[in-house]
Amino acid sequence: MSLRIDILTLFPDMFAPFLATSIPGRAAEKGKVDYHLTNFRDFATDAHLSVDDKPFGGGPGMVMMCQTVFDTVEAVEKLDPRPARRILLTPQGRRFDQTMAEDFAKDERLLLIAGRYEGFDQRIVDGLKPVELSIGDYVLSGGELAAMVVIDAIVRLLPGVLGALDGAADETFSDGLIEHPQYTRPREFRGMSVPDVLLSGNHAAIAKWRLEQRRARTKDRRPDLWQAQDKKIADGESA
Ligand code: ADE
Repeated sequence: MSLRIDILTLFPDMFAPFLATSIPGRAAEKGKVDYHLTNFRDFATDAHLSVDDKPFGGGPGMVMMCQTVFDTVEAVEKLDPRPARRILLTPQGRRFDQTMAEDFAKDERLLLIAGRYEGFDQRIVDGLKPVELSIGDYVLSGGELAAMVVIDAIVRLLPGVLGALDGAADETFSDGLIEHPQYTRPREFRGMSVPDVLLSGNHAAIAKWRLEQRRARTKDRRPDLWQAQDKKIADGESA
C-alpha cells in the first residue's frame, strides 16, 4: 500500500515540477507514494472566490478563513477511507526534524495544509487539530516550500525509493551526528588530495576515520547536537 499525500494549497502549480523530479518523482513512479493537489480556491463560496479576509482587531495582511479550509480538508479526507495525519505548515509550529520524518514515513496518509498571507484563523487550528510544523526560524511567504521540504524528507525514507542506499544508517541525523566528508575522483585536484586512509582499502580504518570526522564536525558545527550525544552517553546509551 502506498503512502497518500494530499497537499492543500492556493498554489498547486508550485508543486508540479517538484513532485515530478528526482527522488519525489521516482518515489511516485515506483508506486511508493501518490500525490494529490487540491486548491482551497475550489471550495470558496462567495462571488469573489475569497479564501482570506482582514484580521479582526486590525493589523496588516490577510488571514485564511475557516470555511474554505474546513470544507477543503473535509472533502479531501472523504476521498480515501484511510485516516490522514493533518499537518499545517506555519512558522509557529514545532520544528520539523529527522525523527518526525521517520515517524511520518510510516503513515499511510498525510494531509499537508499550506497557507499564504498572515496565517490561519486560530479556529482552524483549534477545530482541525493538525500537527503544526515549522521548517526553521524564518518566515516564508507561504507554507508551500515548507510542505515540499517535509515531503522530500519523508519520501526518500520510504522503503525501495533510494534503492541501494536504502536504510543508510550512517546518514546525517539518523544517529545524532552529521556526516563525514566525502570524496570522489580524481585523487588530486588543484593540489588538494584525498585523505590516504580512503584509498587504503582498509575498511575498519576507513570506518574509524569517518566516525572521528563525524564526531569532530558535530562538536564544531552543531554543539546543540553534540550536547545531546554527551547526554546520551551519560545516560548509558551508546553514541
Ligand atoms: N510558513 C511560513 N514560514 C514557515 C516556516 N518557517 N515553516 C513552515 N511554514 C511556514
